[in-house]
Amino acid sequence: MPLKDKVLAVLEENKGKSVSGSEIAESVGMTRSAVWKAVNRLREDGYVICAGTNKGYCLSEESDFLSEQSIIPHLHTKELGRKIDVFKTIDSTNNFAKSLAQLGAPNGTTVISEIQTQGKGRSGKSFYSPFGMGLYMSVVLRPELSVEHSLLITSCAAVAVAEAIENVAGLNCKIKWVNDIYSGRKKLCGILTEASINVEQGGLEYAIVGIGVNVRNPSFPKDIADIATSVKIESGKDISRSRLAAEILNCLEKRMDTITDKSFLSEYRSRSNVIGKRISVTQNDITEDMDCTGIDEAGRLLVRLDSGEEKALTSGTIRLVEE
Ligand code: BTN
Repeated sequence: MPLKDKVLAVLEENKGKSVSGSEIAESVGMTRSAVWKAVNRLREDGYVICAGTNKGYCLSEESDFLSEQSIIPHLHTKELGRKIDVFKTIDSTNNFAKSLAQLGAPNGTTVISEIQTQGKGRSGKSFYSPFGMGLYMSVVLRPELSVEHSLLITSCAAVAVAEAIENVAGLNCKIKWVNDIYSGRKKLCGILTEASINVEQGGLEYAIVGIGVNVRNPSFPKDIADIATSVKIESGKDISRSRLAAEILNCLEKRMDTITDKSFLSEYRSRSNVIGKRISVTQNDITEDMDCTGIDEAGRLLVRLDSGEEKALTSGTIRLVEE
């Protein structure tokens, strides 16, 4: 690990507290003057590091750059996030994670970027991913799952992300089937899962779970201003994106362990903002209003059409109908 990163790891572990130059020098095995040089290089990268005579160095609590060093102190996982690649800029973290998975990256490999130039949403839509505002993260998962159970990964991840946002920001998060996290009437986060099936063995080879959370955005472009919100707007808080990334990984690892017993589904249902509501469903360019009656054990949306016919939907874009 480069010296600068070793110093950053010590500062991140002690964020908001002063650590003396000699303590840092001892723990990373370098001289005090090398520590001083590394600190200056970190400052050039934009880190706010205070230093006072005889006080040592202190990384400001306000500093919210994403790095492996800033995330690891908050991780309680065995595998998820134990290998993290953090980029300043990337086209899409899902694309990069997919190329790593194809090269054999292990379960839990995580890709994060400060900005995405071609962030992807579901149904070919783009995901708004401006610099430093959100958490854009993709996780390679390799659970041993049948194709049937693999279809539950997005719902399982939605529960984990809702719990994590709630734990870190104290926001009450709802889930709009199948993959959107809402605070009140607006979307806070979207999830895009891309999977590869092993045709010969008939099971999942890997899944890429891509998570995009609007964290610090003070506002949104006109075309999404009516539907999008951020943690900052909803809670008034500037939460640490590193803590949020770690907590998502913590919650995701726990929830993924229970995917086959489907116990997460009761939490999914109780967080649903569509069950019992009038919804408008668009499938293959056709939109129809109907009642949502529940979510079944396969994660399908149960609906009752105005003709009285009952159906279980596996896909489609839904919208809550204002009543
Ligand atoms: C949606 O709202 O339809 C899903 C949005 C998923 C966005 C995330 S951001 C990280 C990952 N990389 C992408 O290109 N997309 C996902």
